[in-house]
Amino acid sequence: SNNKTFTMIKPDAVANGHIGAILDQIIKAGFKINAMKYIALTEQTAGKFYEVHKERPFYGELVGFMSSGPIVAAILEKDNAVEDFRKLIGATDPAKAEAGTIRQLFAESIGANAIHGSDSSENAKIEGDFFFSALEKF
Ligand code: CMP
Repeated sequence: SNNKTFTMIKPDAVANGHIGAILDQIIKAGFKINAMKYIALTEQTAGKFYEVHKERPFYGELVGFMSSGPIVAAILEKDNAVEDFRKLIGATDPAKAEAGTIRQLFAESIGANAIHGSDSSENAKIEGDFFFSALEKF
């Protein structure tokens, strides 16, 4: 199914006070919250979440950044969720993100880029299951 995606509001956006503004944009774009939590990743749990990027040169920086402060993790629901959410957040590099996208508005750099969105329905399921048990999902 392609009606769910997984997101994290990253430590930079949380630290800069943008949780409310970002959730407002997500909800106004028609996404429903299926599950949500405010949580801190450790280097170990961030490393496991991003294991697919283990061989990338930025892996250490990514893991360090994602464990540097609390995040908001959520499963979101909407028709065409994965694709529509990636449009809403904009390009990974905020310098290349379209005007009005969450990253253009709130991200600082390619690493500290405010928000995560799953790149496929398969990964949305894997990532959502990493954070949420059956009891925590609708
Ligand atoms: P995300 O979509 O959450 O998953 C992979 C992350 O790696 C991506 O967001 C970026 O924030 C991060 N990333 C990608 N390229 C770089 C880079 N060159 N340097 C640091 N982080 C990067």
